[in-house]
Amino acid sequence: MLNAADVDLSDWEFWRRPLDHRHEAFKALRWEPELVHFDEPDIAIVPQGPGFYAVTRHADIVEVSRRPQDFCSGRGAISIVDLPGDMHEYFGSMISMDDPRHAKIRRIVSQAFTPRMIRRLEDKVDQVASEIVEDVAAAGGGDFVLDVAARLPLKIICDMMGIGEESYRTVFDATNVILGGNDPEFLPANDGEQIALALLTAGQTLKELVEDLGRRRRAEPSDDLTSALVNANVDGESLTDQELGSFFILLVVAGNETTRNAIAHGLDLLTRHPEQRALLAEDFEAHAPAAVEEIVRYVSPVIWMRRTATRDTVLNDHEIKEGDKLLLYYWSANRDELVFKDSGRFDITRSPNPHLGFGGPGPHFCLGAHLARREITVMFRQLLSGLPSIQASGAPDRLESSFLNGIKRLPYTV
Ligand code: HEM
Repeated sequence: MLNAADVDLSDWEFWRRPLDHRHEAFKALRWEPELVHFDEPDIAIVPQGPGFYAVTRHADIVEVSRRPQDFCSGRGAISIVDLPGDMHEYFGSMISMDDPRHAKIRRIVSQAFTPRMIRRLEDKVDQVASEIVEDVAAAGGGDFVLDVAARLPLKIICDMMGIGEESYRTVFDATNVILGGNDPEFLPANDGEQIALALLTAGQTLKELVEDLGRRRRAEPSDDLTSALVNANVDGESLTDQELGSFFILLVVAGNETTRNAIAHGLDLLTRHPEQRALLAEDFEAHAPAAVEEIVRYVSPVIWMRRTATRDTVLNDHEIKEGDKLLLYYWSANRDELVFKDSGRFDITRSPNPHLGFGGPGPHFCLGAHLARREITVMFRQLLSGLPSIQASGAPDRLESSFLNGIKRLPYTV
């Protein structure tokens, strides 16, 4: 077993190591009696800050999530460093807010995620997934990420918002930059100014796209989410242009890449575990709900979220000081051997499966969890019934990122 003292989560090299090595490293951190502290990674955009504690045990992450007054999101939730002011304009949406402002925005946007709204989307999800399967059958093979995994969530989110097909590519490229991690394919390596510029440009592109749409929908509402958001009246409140822009960026980023990666990893996992695949195919409806949860647990598309201590406090015996940064490693909690028996095993019948892939129990729990579950279910239902021979035909080309467990490309054959 690896020694916790040999693990450096701030070293980009660590995130390039094989998955098994990284899982071993997190296991070592989980068994350390104290929370382990790391320096902040040098991301060249801002000066290095005071560092962070890695929260790697399931019970600790649940506890932090339940205490938003003590462990807030408002000083940054998606970035280890404190983002400079101009970045907040684009990336400071509800995920990086605390109540009461967070509750206000969540109340407004939740209208789009009620079970009734999700049911309305279901037909759409079905229709898009079946179009994808037809195209894939004709192509016979290629890159699964481009042909399948990226297409469904992108189309569903753009449709929800009322974004036309001519803008899909723009949205796809911009989200790749925003969540590009340390991957030189998407962001210039080690050049702070260039990285900041690329991020701001991608944010601005998405913001302009939705602001223009928002103006049109204010004048002439339709039945899309943008119309609902700009014309919403929840206790007399609606979203400002600024709130609409940053919410849209959050939605396309949070809803696209995460679901895309769950679907891509899903095919890879089912290919590498033929007995699990056979079980799923044998009675899809019976096994799908647990299989989807297991894919999300096993993959953990979002590796961590940050919280910051608002006061001196104690977290399950660990002393925490006001201002301390805590990284909640869902990726590690989802392998916690105290909660999941045989936690490294991919088991589509796992029950119970209290994974934290969609976040812990708290005000920020993933707003799109139901939608994501639907998309993953429908995509695999259509794939396994329409293309029973589809499989990954090579190793995934992984995204270099400490934040997202991403797959850039995955070769497949039918
Ligand atoms: C497998 C797919 C997905 C995964 C693994 C995932 C994961 C997460 C996680 C870990 C959080 C943060 C929880 C926290 O800070 O406590 C989150 C928040 C969020 N997610 Fe998801 N997500 C997925 C799909 C989606 C989809 C499809 C949408 C929308 C269409 C979405 C929208 C959001 C939003 C808006 C938030 C912020 C909620 C808030 O701050 O109140 N997510 N998600």
